[in-house]
This record gives sequence, structure tokens and C-alpha cells, in this order.
Amino acid sequence: MADYDYDVLVIGAGPGGYVAAIRAAQLGLKTACAESRETLGGTCLNVGCIPSKALLNASEKFAEASSGALAKFGVKIENVSLDLDAMHGQRRDAVKGLTGGIEFLFKKNKVEWLKGLATFTAADTVSVGGRTVRAKNIVIATGSSVTPLPGVTIDHEVVLDSTSALEIPQVPKHMVVIGGGVIGLELGSVWKRLGAKVTVVEYLDQVLPGMDGEVRKEAAKIFKKQGLDIRTSTKVTKVERRGGSATVTVEPAAGGASETIEADAVLVSIGRRPNTEGLGLDKAGLAVNKRGQIETNHDFSTSVRGVWAIGDVIPGPMLAHKAEDEGIAVAENIAGLTGIVNHDVIPSVVYTHPEIAGVGLTEEDAKAKGEVKVGKFPMLANSRAKAIDDTTGFVKIIADAKTDRVLGVWIIATPAGTLIGQAAQAMEFGASSEDIAYTCNAHPTHNEAIKEAAMAVLGKPIHA
Ligand code: FAD
Ligand code: NAI
Repeated sequence: MADYDYDVLVIGAGPGGYVAAIRAAQLGLKTACAESRETLGGTCLNVGCIPSKALLNASEKFAEASSGALAKFGVKIENVSLDLDAMHGQRRDAVKGLTGGIEFLFKKNKVEWLKGLATFTAADTVSVGGRTVRAKNIVIATGSSVTPLPGVTIDHEVVLDSTSALEIPQVPKHMVVIGGGVIGLELGSVWKRLGAKVTVVEYLDQVLPGMDGEVRKEAAKIFKKQGLDIRTSTKVTKVERRGGSATVTVEPAAGGASETIEADAVLVSIGRRPNTEGLGLDKAGLAVNKRGQIETNHDFSTSVRGVWAIGDVIPGPMLAHKAEDEGIAVAENIAGLTGIVNHDVIPSVVYTHPEIAGVGLTEEDAKAKGEVKVGKFPMLANSRAKAIDDTTGFVKIIADAKTDRVLGVWIIATPAGTLIGQAAQAMEFGASSEDIAYTCNAHPTHNEAIKEAAMAVLGKPIHA
């Protein structure tokens, strides 16, 4: 240690980096974390998970109150009006509280925050904020940024990325969302609920890539019913801004006649790409793969000794909880313990209404690997969903036909994001569908739909 400044230097203080830094410090390692933003917490806390969920929650409350949907429960609300500034204020407060919380945790755990953009000058040396620091271990946790659409300039006024789409000062009249993935559908839902007309242009023949086929189809139906104009198999060829509006030119993905759509907001949400530019990876002796990601071994070590990588900058789903778990595992591996992440059991959630969640294999992928049994249970037959008159969706369980081991669980339901945790835990413990079917769930809860779907795998649901 004598000639090193730190045992561990983490680059990036997102969910991957800040968790890695705290865990490393907890394990007795002298740790610093370099972060170039003004606040800690990375994409997730500053401009991702947290502000988007704040707006999803607030916009849902507004839509419930203003649409008259609560009248059937005997709740009559008149003259509902939107105070968008107050809504943005709550979003900012949520972000501020959480990012400040990480700063507190750094102090508490004695993690030193090195402010500035870190660049490798050698495999064990980094230049940051005018200082040169040497560390025995360096963890790259630099995350990802918005993928630009060639030929389309994001001006953050009319043509927006996910960050500027969180901060629109007035509800747009017509928002065109380019990309029907998670960001497009979450943020498209926010502005639709607040009064915008929303058109989603998706290149593929279905929205929500990576999710189970049946779930994607059902989700599209639900969003269309909610008033989102979803145009699949369609590509954007041009976006021209004129003053406060833009003309978006689209045509069939397979080619054909083009048409134009006028909009006063255009959200570009076609994916994210790893942040490695300006990091000086060549000085560390590292290269990126074809997708711009840093490849790692199972323990998150890279091809260069002492350099590790986690989170959005490495292959795998770009999710905060995946980055966090990798942060814990990498710190444990650096400390000589055994840190493992089971990449087969990473849940994912779309926080729309209803929520859409999944863990494990899709039916299509499971079938490609072998014979499967599938059990489904509709929320329409779930007593809690009936009681609260919110019955959209279903639970679907995919199990191995021979061993009955659960391979994947997919849920569309109001609290799908919470329910999927139960499925993930069962899968982590190697559960069979029978194990889930014979687990007692409280009544009346949405969880009972998971039990019934598992019973359906065995061919014997009670309530459907
Ligand atoms: P990041 O959070 O991107 O953090 C990396 C940090 O490194 C950044 O703060 C950056 O400033 C810093 N950095 C980069 N380069 C350097 C450098 N050279 N020197 C110093 N600092 C540097 N995921 C979910 O699981 N659930 C959600 O609900 C969810 N919602 C999202 C909503 C939106 C709108 C977006 C954009 C993303 C969302 N995500 C969500 C994805 C989630 O934010 C990411 O998967 C997660 O933040 C990745 O964590 P990370 O630590 O790898 O990187
Ligand atoms: P995404 O990969 O989820 O969706 C992008 C969509 O854009 C895809 O459907 C793709 O087919 C489409 N597309 C690509 N190019 C296109 C083009 N030229 N024209 C029209 N459509 C095009 O990416 P998104 O939504 O930008 O989100 C990025 C990442 O952020 C996600 O992968 C996800 O991991 C993470 N995220 C997670 C959230 C959550 O967990 N709730 C919320 C928001 C983001």
C-alpha cells in the first residue's frame, strides 16, 4: 500500500459505483470515488429511476383526480388543476434528498469523493480534478448515456432526451416519442396523463424489446387503450425543428411512402450506450467490444490486472439493481471474498399503469432451450384486483417441463414491480412451480395470482 493512495478507486458514483465504494470501505479498504457530476447517485438518482418515478407517481395522481376515474369509488373531485411547477418541485426534492443521502453515506463510511472527470494515465493511475492518484484497484463504473439518433440534434427545448423530457416546463400539445422501449413508454405515459397527445414511433414490430412476446403484445393493447398512438414497424427518417415545433418524417421500417407528424416535443429514446469516451482506456491497456462495452470475467475483473468494471458500462441489462449487486460483488472480490451476481435472475420493471415486470427467460427463449410448461392466471380472477376494480393483466409462469424448475415469470398488474420480487426470490432459491403453488399467500392480495399461475402450470388453478 505504501506507494498507493488508495486500495480502491471507483470511477463513477452511480448505483454501481457508489455501492462498490461503500462496500469496499465497509470491508476495511481505503476507498475513493471519482464523480464529475455536482451530485452523487449517477444517472439513476439524478436523471433516471428516481425523477422518472416521481413524475410517474404524480402524473398518475393527477390523471386519477382529473379524469373522474375516482367517482365510481364515491370520490367526486371537481375543478382539478395542474400545478406543474409544484410537480417538478416534488421531483427535485426527491432527487435532492436521495443524492444528499449518498453524500452522507460516503462521509459515514469514509469514502473520499474526488470531484471531477477521471482519466487513466496508466493502469493503476488516474488523473482527476487536477490531481494524479494511484490505486491498487480501479473499478470502472462510468455508466451510460443516451444513444443519439444520426441526423437528429437534441436541443433540449423541442427535441429532447430522457433528461430534458423530465423537465418540460409546460405540457406539450403533441409529443412524438422515438423508440417504444422502457423510457419511451414511461415518459410518454407521464406526459399523456398530464394532457399531451403522445405518438410512439417504434422501429420493431412490437414495443418493449427483450420482454416476453405475449407481454409485449398485451402491453401495446393496454397503452393503445390509454390513448397512446403506437406506430410499430415505423422508422423516423428526419426531424426538422422550426421555432417551437418540429416536423417528424416517418416511413414504414421496411421502406415505403413517408408521412410527416407535427409535434411541439420530440423525445429521442432509442437506447443508451456505455460511457468510455475520454476515459483513457488505452492508457490502461483496455479496449471495448463492438457494442462499446468493457468485457469482464465472472468476478468483474477485466483483462488488465487490478482494473475492474461494473454496471451499464459492461454487458447485460442496463438496470440500477444489476449495477448495485455488481458493486457489492466487485468490492467483495477485491477484498478477497467471493462476490457473485446471478445474471439469470435480474428482474426488470416498467413503471407504467399497470406495471409490467419480468424475471428470467421469456417463453420464446425458454422454448428455444427445451420443453416448457406455462401457467397463466388473469388478474380479472384475483380477488384483490376485483376489490379495487383494477383487473388489467395476468401472471405467467414458465417452468421446465421435466424438472418443473421455474425459468421465467412475467406479470402485468398494478403492483407488478413489487410482485416480481417474490418470483425472483423463488427462482434464486431454485424453486419449482409446485414450490410456489404450495406456498401460502395472504388473502386478499395480488400475490395470490402468482400462486394460482403456478397451480396453472400443474394444470389446477382454483379460481380460473
Ligand atoms: P450511472 O448511474 O450512469 O453512473 C455513472 C456515473 O459515472 C455518472 O454519474 C457519471 O457522471 C459518472 N462518470 C462517467 N464517466 C466519468 C469519469 N470519467 N469520471 C468521473 N465520473 C464519471 N434502472 C432501473 O433499474 N430502474 C428504473 O426505474 C430506471 N429508470 C430509468 C429512467 C431513466 C430516464 C433512465 C435514463 C435510466 C433509468 N434506469 C433505471 C437505468 C439506470 O439509471 C442505470 O441502469 C443505472 O444508473 C446504471 O448505474 P451505473 O452505476 O452503471 O451508471
Ligand atoms: P430501450 O432499449 O428500452 O428501447 C429503445 C427502443 O427504441 C427499442 O424498442 C428499439 O427498437 C427502438 N428504436 C431504436 N432505434 C430506433 C429508431 N431509429 N426509430 C424508432 N425506434 C427505434 O431503450 P430506452 O427506452 O432508451 O432505455 C434505455 C435503458 O434504460 C433501457 O435499456 C433500460 O435498461 C433503462 N431503463 C430502465 C427503466 C426501468 O427499469 N423501469 C426505465 C428507463 C430506462
